[in-house]
Amino acid sequence: MSPSSSPVAVVGCGLMGSGIAEVLARAGRSVLVHEVDAGAAGRGRARIEASVSRAVRSGKLDEAQGGEVLGRIEVGTDLDALASAELVIEAASEDEAVKTELFRRLDALLLRDDAVLASNTSSIPIMKLGTATKRPEQVVGLHFFNPVPVLALVEVVPSLLTSEDTVKRVSHLAEDELGKTVIRSQDRAGFIVNALLVPYLLSGVRMLESGFASARDIDAGMVKGCAHPMGPLQLSDLIGLDTVKAIAESLYAEFKEPLYSPPPMLLRMVDAGLLGRKSGRGFYDYAR
Ligand code: CAA
Repeated sequence: MSPSSSPVAVVGCGLMGSGIAEVLARAGRSVLVHEVDAGAAGRGRARIEASVSRAVRSGKLDEAQGGEVLGRIEVGTDLDALASAELVIEAASEDEAVKTELFRRLDALLLRDDAVLASNTSSIPIMKLGTATKRPEQVVGLHFFNPVPVLALVEVVPSLLTSEDTVKRVSHLAEDELGKTVIRSQDRAGFIVNALLVPYLLSGVRMLESGFASARDIDAGMVKGCAHPMGPLQLSDLIGLDTVKAIAESLYAEFKEPLYSPPPMLLRMVDAGLLGRKSGRGFYDYAR
């Protein structure tokens, strides 16, 4: 990407979009963030402020730097305000129809011919997003991990039509500006990490569902026995059960392997609105 003063746009200010906006601003970029309405924009802004305060409390940023980071981020509701961006990172909900419509609209409004459209999708084929636009060579997957300010990885996912120049530009941003480690995946549902992680998370849900062991024992098994930072049910709650379900469905649709099929317990919990940390309850209760 060009000099660090060029603005970057982020679409969606949920768990992932807010984290992506924060790391861009911490790297010195001006960031324009888009949300669907004023309520979502307010919640997104509050999420960014809480995360920056946390970084200040833990001494990663001083007060003045925290203020500068927040000053570089503008959260609004007018998609047209993103027209001058050289890069848009889409981090809307994991819904193919929503994302393809957004890519179609962004493609039509971006003013720069060289503007890149990246998606933080965890599982939707980049080709489907690319072909929703007239610039598929400038459409690429740029997949961050939650919590974005903490986890060091970014997956770069070119479709069959993405140019090498686009891959180079986003890899440079992720590696040299944001300090992340980049891995490159083919455009297959789940990319590298979720194709490995999600069947493991679903196995944890199946183990609980069948009465094999309790949630606490399943999680303690992987934390204490394998030195994972969290067990599979705790991690599913962190990711969001709706997102785990959406990724599982994309993997199942792509590969038709039973191990990717979301178990009934996960489906019922999502129907019930038990989405994990973000809703206050999932496999564990966070309201208390
Ligand atoms: N935002 C910003 N910083 C955060 C944070 C957040 N949400 N959560 C934790 N941190 C920071 C803390 O400030 C702390 O920093 P310092 O050490 O500098 O103080 C550090 O991370 C450790 O935090 P805690 O001490 O509070 O808690 P912890 O040691 O239990 O770590 C964790 C919490 C970082 C979430 C850790 O448990 C972890 O890494 N878990 C695994 C997360 C994981 O696997 N994520 C990938 C999910 S898959 C995905 O994202 C892709 C997808 O498509 C679904």
